[in-house]
Amino acid sequence: MVAAIEVEGLRKTYVERRLWRVKRVVTALDSVTFAIERGTMVALLGPNGAGKSTTVRILSTLLLPDGGTARVMGHDVVKEASSVRRVIGVMLDPEKGHFGRLTGLENLVFYGVLHGLTRSDARSRAVELLEQFGLGDARDRPVEGYSKGMKARLAICRVLIHDPEVLILDEPTAGLDPISAREVRERLKGLKREGRTVLVTTHNLWEAEELSDRLIVLNRGRVIAEGTPEEVKRAFGLMWNVELEVSGNLEGLKLGWETELGISERGRPLLKVMIREDPSELVPLILSELRSRGVQVLSVSVREPTLEEAFVRAVGGA
Ligand SMILES: Nc1ncnc2c1ncn2[C@@H]1O[C@H](COP(=O)(O)OP(=O)(O)OP(=O)(O)O)[C@@H](O)[C@H]1O
Ligand SMILES: [Mg+2]
Repeated sequence: MVAAIEVEGLRKTYVERRLWRVKRVVTALDSVTFAIERGTMVALLGPNGAGKSTTVRILSTLLLPDGGTARVMGHDVVKEASSVRRVIGVMLDPEKGHFGRLTGLENLVFYGVLHGLTRSDARSRAVELLEQFGLGDARDRPVEGYSKGMKARLAICRVLIHDPEVLILDEPTAGLDPISAREVRERLKGLKREGRTVLVTTHNLWEAEELSDRLIVLNRGRVIAEGTPEEVKRAFGLMWNVELEVSGNLEGLKLGWETELGISERGRPLLKVMIREDPSELVPLILSELRSRGVQVLSVSVREPTLEEAFVRAVGGA
């Protein structure tokens, strides 16, 4: 069975011109290769400018690559663009593309008809989706009155109106408050349960991990890591910092982990322990180890390194 999405040696260069002169040449994608299995949810993860949106635009047939190939459900995005468009649902910006004066229902019917559904099919599908995404009560209100989170959920409904097998979503939680973002993530997980293939971009490692089966990590137009979240973290040598405010005699203290001594914001001795394994298992061990040496622990905090920190490590400080 062919993969849902197959990208091979994809290249894209943007040439910025000013009048007739070339001002800047940007290599957005530098031979990107990956494959996404059907029915999986994969996050394309990377910092600003990594090439995530460029990849999404090429897969959505909105942008032509300079080289390489990309196929969606076996269809070539350049040579068979209309077949690709039939099987994908694309969200480029959760807030854009809605008609503010139209109601949520009218918006969805409009897009359904655009995708070739009859008016009545579009309407029944729209009603069903609005219910499923918690917008049933708001369906007859103009969209301009919707909150950002509601607009994001409406955007997901829109992507689903023609029942596509593959969803391609560019930063679906961008600009949402934490609660709305969580709600959107929950809905997205539901889509995977329906058996669809979902490609979602994010620059948030934590979100990528929470949402997806596999991560593809892009940096400066190249895939620098790929695999399950665990595999990618291990590849990055990702560490958690466990910070403990302590009192007692720390002299000669040796734990089985990498440690550093400092001073906390409150002026207390601060013991930093760097661990690579799951903190929920190791923190209790660290605590009991300290207790057995008579060190009193006043507070504990666990900090996961940010993606930026991970990248600095992964790309050697570049
Ligand atoms: N239309 C354009 N013209 C010129 N350069 C562009 C254009 N679009 C993107 N770029 C450049 O190409 C590179 C990749 O951009 P892209 O938007 O694909 O990254 P991204 O991973 O989506 O980043 P972000 O997290 O900021 O959305 C960046 O250096 C960007 O400045
Ligand atoms: Mg982008």
